[in-house]
Amino acid sequence: MKIGIMGTGYVGLVHGAVLSSYGFPVTCMDVDAEKIDRLAAGISPIYEPDLDELLTGGIEAGTLSFTTSAEEVVQSSDVIFIAVGTPAMDDGSANLTYVHEVMHAIGKYANGYKVVVCKSTMPVGTNRSIANYLDGVLKTRNEPFRIDVASNPEFLRQGKAVSDSLSPSRIVIGTENEEAKRMLQTIYAGYMRQHVPFLYTNPETAEMIKYAANSFLGVKISFVNELALLSEKVGANIQDIATGMGLDDRISPHFLQAGPGYGGSCFPKDMQALVGVGQKNGEELYVVRAAVAANEKQKAKMVDKISGVLASNGSLRGKTIAVWGLSFKPETDDIRFAPSYDIISGLVARGAAVKAYCPQGMKQAERAWTDLSGAVAFCESEEDCARNADAIVLMTEWKQFKASGLDSIVKSMRGNVFFDLRNLFADHPRIRLLFDYYSVGSDERR
Ligand code: UGA
Repeated sequence: MKIGIMGTGYVGLVHGAVLSSYGFPVTCMDVDAEKIDRLAAGISPIYEPDLDELLTGGIEAGTLSFTTSAEEVVQSSDVIFIAVGTPAMDDGSANLTYVHEVMHAIGKYANGYKVVVCKSTMPVGTNRSIANYLDGVLKTRNEPFRIDVASNPEFLRQGKAVSDSLSPSRIVIGTENEEAKRMLQTIYAGYMRQHVPFLYTNPETAEMIKYAANSFLGVKISFVNELALLSEKVGANIQDIATGMGLDDRISPHFLQAGPGYGGSCFPKDMQALVGVGQKNGEELYVVRAAVAANEKQKAKMVDKISGVLASNGSLRGKTIAVWGLSFKPETDDIRFAPSYDIISGLVARGAAVKAYCPQGMKQAERAWTDLSGAVAFCESEEDCARNADAIVLMTEWKQFKASGLDSIVKSMRGNVFFDLRNLFADHPRIRLLFDYYSVGSDERR
């Protein structure tokens, strides 16, 4: 069975590389010729643990190839995964332009029976409209063959994309077509042997599962973040609250880590889109809407908190702030919708000079944050970043920060304030001796 993957972002590239490692011949297609050339040479466009090895392994074994030709992929593949982006439009709804481009290419070049599998996160109803479109095209062309469509949402996390793909939490297959289901069962036979749970349902439900899962996780984070703000005022400790809640397995301890707000290319976009789908269908999703608003509040509160400690008369003029970590989470170079951007913008707006260091996100930030150029100095290391600063703001919980030499770092600084927005050092035995330390979700002054 030959597999084609349309789109070489996180989802497409990792999925293609993993399927090729199972021995399937996989061709990945992208319209970006430069990216395809680099991929063909085994160079990954993203930082993702273990991905480089998987790519070179597939290329050397001859099971993984790359092309810019949609025609080639459509004609040579039995199963075509759509894994292009569905970014948010100005009104928050999902932009399906890239999905439609792929759909048109499949309709144009299809030369026999195919299964089209939608991996991209797509608003409810998209799978069915793709199936209807392709049916219509084949009828007009008077073709004797069918194209079947299945929804198969992806649940991998950035930073853990390869390990999540090798052992997924579940496989959701949304189709009413037995042949499509059978083809996917063949592709995922290895997961069946691993006893990964499979859920078969209709396309609309599969599409909704993806939005529901991401939105629920976002709601959990916003819930714990709001309680963290309250905990600081009433003398409670959010980490212990989360532990105490999480010991109830109906709640689970996961995604209860208070912080500066969630970010990334998924939660913000998918939660907005779900709210929009609700409104389009006459259902106001109050809970999701509130979680989105609480996330914006959280980022603003972080700026207030830092200013509250450092500023005189509300102004941070004359203060230098060292920001550790820019990516929206550790083990990725992705800075899309990272809380660091909003928080740094807020600090700069109040007059602070910002120095920043991130183990992987610097290149992306320098390229994308043109509005902050001049206001942010990018540094070589966390030590370099902290030198002569009044305060450190730890934005992302990269493991390497835990190993930094805090004694020499504090000596190199002008001030000694440490805002730990991820509670990475909350249990460090000497952090409160070395620094004027502020965690998230507990009153450090008590
Ligand atoms: C998320 C989902 O977790 C994946 O299951 C899904 O497949 C993916 O979106 C997607 O739709 O493609 P991802 O965006 O890679 O994955 O990252 P997460 O690990 O979910 O973290 C998202 C944000 O929440 C980060 O900014 C992280 O720092 C924040 N977070 C997470 C918290 O603030 N607290 C927590 O307890 C957990």
